[in-house]
Amino acid sequence: MKFAILGLGIMGRGWITQCTVTGHDVHCFDTNPDMLAGVKTGCDKLAAKAAKKLKSDDPDFVSNAAQKITIYEDKAAFIEAAKDCDVFLEVIFEDLKLKCKVLSEYLPQLSEKVFFWSNTSSLDINPMAEAGGRPERSIITHGMNPVPLVSGVEVVPGDKTSSETIEFTRQTLLQMKKAPFMAPNIPGFWVNRLLMPQMLDAVRLLEQGKIQVEDGDIGLNTSLGHPQGTFKLHDFVTAPTMLRVALQMYQASNDPRLYPPLILMRMVKNGEYGASSGKGFYDWSDPRNPKGRDLSHYVIGSTEDIIDQLK
Ligand SMILES: NC(=O)c1ccc[n+]([C@@H]2O[C@H](COP(=O)([O-])OP(=O)(O)OC[C@H]3O[C@@H](n4cnc5c(N)ncnc54)[C@H](O)[C@@H]3O)[C@@H](O)[C@H]2O)c1
Repeated sequence: MKFAILGLGIMGRGWITQCTVTGHDVHCFDTNPDMLAGVKTGCDKLAAKAAKKLKSDDPDFVSNAAQKITIYEDKAAFIEAAKDCDVFLEVIFEDLKLKCKVLSEYLPQLSEKVFFWSNTSSLDINPMAEAGGRPERSIITHGMNPVPLVSGVEVVPGDKTSSETIEFTRQTLLQMKKAPFMAPNIPGFWVNRLLMPQMLDAVRLLEQGKIQVEDGDIGLNTSLGHPQGTFKLHDFVTAPTMLRVALQMYQASNDPRLYPPLILMRMVKNGEYGASSGKGFYDWSDPRNPKGRDLSHYVIGSTEDIIDQLK
């Protein structure tokens, strides 16, 4: 099959790799030229990890996957290639207005047979499906990071998604060695509806000076079996994406637990994005041995502590 993938950040690269290592051709594009440059190297690294996960000993595994990627520097050429693809997958910033604007531009130019998948982690599929003008063939496929290593994919249909689209999507994901499961079209679906309040609470407790980065992660890893704990996961998701997802979920639900904590906003402002920028909750100077940072300069204490200081 042929996939058109829009957005070549963390998740776009993950999906490109999953498509190509399972035999599909990918045409891809990003409006940021800096993102185009690193795609091949990034996907090669992910494909090498996928080879281990899929237990392949084919010496050409990575190079075969790489040959299936076509990167476009020009939007019009990408749209031309996307016209007769089987699936158009959007993996751009978590921003409903932006996604709807982009979809209303791209999707009407494609064959009506093309299925539309969105990798959003929290947004309502219905406005995106309507903006793209093909609601029956629109669906969310929320993959987890890193896509080639984490099997689960939330499949979220909208009000008008056809049963043919649901079945095509489930079967295609199974063929791609993913583990699809149905989830509700509510802010954050199933996984992030449960996970986001917990991750944001962890950040608030750190902000209050109640927990340190490494203790927090060791605790969750050794007690609940979370592979990375919460702060390392933050650093892989990146602070800007956490901020966008939290704000969009807050706006959609009015749930105060989802309002982005101050520390997260400060980290974004200071460019402390996480593993990709070298600094987040951890110092990633040595990526194999990240060190929990001393974030005491961000600690503001709890309301009670602050009021006590006024006495
Ligand atoms: N980071 C995660 O762990 C994670 C996990 C699951 C789902 N998601 C979701 O995946 C999507 C992408 O997240 P990400 O982490 O890959 O973000 P990212 O910031 O790493 O990448 C997003 C990419 O989209 C590109 N982009 C933005 N506007 C564009 C436009 N108009 N046209 C083309 N390209 C455009 C950007 O240049 C960037 O390269 C979001 O919806 C996010 O919620 C992220």
